[in-house]
Amino acid sequence: MSQALMARLDRLLANLGYGSRRDVQALIAAGQVVLDGAPLKDAGRKVAVTADLSGRMTIRGIPVDPPAPLVLMLHKPLGVVCSHKEDGPRIDDLLPKRWRIRDPALSSVGRLDKDTSGLLLITDDGDFLHRVISPKRHVAKAYLATLDRPLTGQEAALFAAGTLMLEGEDKPLLPAGLEVLGEKQARLTITEGRYHQVRRMFAAVGNHVTALHRERIGGLALPDDLTPGEHRILDAATAERVFAEARP
Ligand code: URA
Repeated sequence: MSQALMARLDRLLANLGYGSRRDVQALIAAGQVVLDGAPLKDAGRKVAVTADLSGRMTIRGIPVDPPAPLVLMLHKPLGVVCSHKEDGPRIDDLLPKRWRIRDPALSSVGRLDKDTSGLLLITDDGDFLHRVISPKRHVAKAYLATLDRPLTGQEAALFAAGTLMLEGEDKPLLPAGLEVLGEKQARLTITEGRYHQVRRMFAAVGNHVTALHRERIGGLALPDDLTPGEHRILDAATAERVFAEARP
């Protein structure tokens, strides 16, 4: 069994975003940090950083945030941006404020456009993030697309062929799966993450996406009871479901 990482209590809480080292030392001195039912008074005490810490430690009576590695899913609403470089409300605004100063920092696993809703993963685990976005892994992402014009019936074969070239690119797209759900609605499953890929694929067949929603990443679907703007922390086994399926 691997040994649990040990961390100084004040450093651990500061890295989780509960304040500066000085702030958290004051919290500890005030008896507000409780482990297994007993207040911890020594800021320099080493504690084991284990996945069950939230079930054992409270800060001001509230379970402590899970330590790294943290993976969460967010139901990204329309109109919210993933990047600091874009204008508008950001995904960080939907999460607890202290998470902005967590160390290691949280980042989104890839991005969704401002006008796309649905499943977005956020993590401080660089290895997990790279495994999800690695082109070698072919993690499937399923999108529900609503279109401006009726589908012609030719799109599925074209998308599946692995020959479609997007404007301005010199490498064809990998095969993608299209399930027609209605005259102007389809589920598209892709295993790459090229810039605005879904919108550009439909543009390449003379159509236009009017609404886009990501339903699934690998074997992990956006739960029906997670409403736009809500997030949920994933345990390690649930996060690994992303890799349960490969290729559309
Ligand atoms: N493809 C797009 O066009 N937009 C997204 O947000 C994701 C995939």
